[in-house]
Parts: sequence; C-alpha cells; structure tokens
Amino acid sequence: MISSIPIFFVMSNQFPIGIFDSGFGGLTVFKSIAEKLPQYNYIYLGDNARSPYGDHSFETVYQYTLECVEWLFEKGCPLVILACNTASAKALRTIQQVDLPKKYPNHRVLGVIRPTAEVIGNFSESKHVGIMGTRGTINSNSYPIEIAHFFPKHHVHQQACPMWVPIIENGEHQSEGADYFVKKYIEELLAQSSDIDCILLACTHYPLLIPKIQQQISKKIKLLSQGEIVADSLVDYLNRHPEIESKLAKNNLKEFYTSGDVDVFNNHASLFLGERIIAKNMIKKP
Ligand code: DGL
Repeated sequence: MISSIPIFFVMSNQFPIGIFDSGFGGLTVFKSIAEKLPQYNYIYLGDNARSPYGDHSFETVYQYTLECVEWLFEKGCPLVILACNTASAKALRTIQQVDLPKKYPNHRVLGVIRPTAEVIGNFSESKHVGIMGTRGTINSNSYPIEIAHFFPKHHVHQQACPMWVPIIENGEHQSEGADYFVKKYIEELLAQSSDIDCILLACTHYPLLIPKIQQQISKKIKLLSQGEIVADSLVDYLNRHPEIESKLAKNNLKEFYTSGDVDVFNNHASLFLGERIIAKNMIKKP
C-alpha cells in the first residue's frame, strides 16, 4: 500500500542531475543527454559571467568549477556532469579525489574526457587522431594521457583553438570573421600529420562551428563531437550505479541557471539547444 511507504523512501527519488559548463557549450552535451534520458530532472548551470575558462590557470578553473559544483549540490543534485573539457581537465581529479571524499561522500561528479578517450580510437583506421580544444585542455595533456590507456598504439595530434570559444560565446560562429580562425586552426592541426583521419571537437562549444569546419576538411576525415558519447556513457553509469539512479527524480523537468545576464543567456542558449529557454540567475537577489 502506498500509504505504508516510509517518508524517507518517498523523499529519496526527487533529485535532479546537474550539468555544468563555463558557458553555453555544455548545452550541446545536455541536448544529447536529455534526448537519450528524457525522464530525469536536470539543472543546467553556465558560468557565463566568468567564461571562457580556457586560458585560466589550474587553480582558477578548479576554484570556479568547485563553486559551481557545490552550488548544484546545494540545489539537490547528487550527480553533476562537468560538460566542459577545460573543467574536466583542470578540476575534476581534485574534486573527485579530495573534495568529494572529504565533504560530499555521497555525491558524484563525472567529466567528459574519460568517456571520450574510451571510444575515440575506434573511429580512426590510420590510428592518427586530431584533438581540438581550448588552451587549457590541450596544455593539460589530458587527452594523450587518457587515450594512451585505451589505445596505446594511437598517435594523438593536438591543436589549441583559443579564439573559437570567444567567437561562439559572442554569437559570431556563423560570421565571416569566424572563417578565418576555423581555417587557421584546422590547417595547423592537419599540418602536423597527413594521416589524421578523425578529428575530435574536444570542447563542448565547438559543435556550433561544424558547418564551417566541414568546409575545411576532406570528407574522408571523421568529425566527432562529444554529446552522444557522453550521453551513452551516462546511460551506462546509471545502469551500473543504482544507488545514484534511485535518488533521481523522473518528472522530465529542466531548469537553467546562469551566472551571467539572463536575457543574453536565453537568446544564445536556444541556438545551442534548439528550444526556447527561460533561465534564472544563479546569484540570489537579496
Ligand atoms: N565548453 C568548454 C570546454 O569544453 C569551454 C571552455 C572555456 O570556457 O574556454 O572546454
């Protein structure tokens, strides 16, 4: 009988999944996650006021990311996905190894680099993979290190693209100005090896540049973004972790928060997600 269910059980499955990015980029991952797992409740947080993270130090990215993760924990999320390569490269390890065991032993934080590294090698026949990311992600060497665990014979060629996130965050990704920087970074990557047959967009913002990137590469080169890869990996994680899955609310609700300007977020976010968004500001007004 429903009335005999203890209160703590009724209350236990009411929590949303948190999705975090420095800005809008994580929405490309969120889109795939929400398509694959529409039943759950989600809170998306974009730290647009402090974006881009790409050129910030390890310490700064860690501090900003931890603040946002703790904010999502306070909102009730037992599980937070860092839908940001820069935060995954610079902050995830410390959060998982230091902050969670010390302060939040029942919470989980997952990133986007490991699930991508687990599968990327399957997309390359030549065993030469190109990685395009922010300076922070590329300089961290996270991708070559992680890919070597799963595909030790693959060669990883990296290219930092520091202008791409600012172009996208400012809504200029379809402009002629964007063509110059797309061509420049693609040429620099492909100059590293003529054997590259697979390029990973290792920044969650970059899918918005796909039409322009495709104009610069041969059809033989596979262009990969992370949305589906991360969504598949989350499905697998929730199957393997019923202690987390059983805490999650399943009312198909989505909430959006930004540390930046709400109107700007609403306008840009709909481009990334393909649906109208009404966001709130994360900073509570007195
Ligand atoms: N979407 C973030 C990533 O995947 C962008 C980082 C930034 O803010 O520079 O790396």
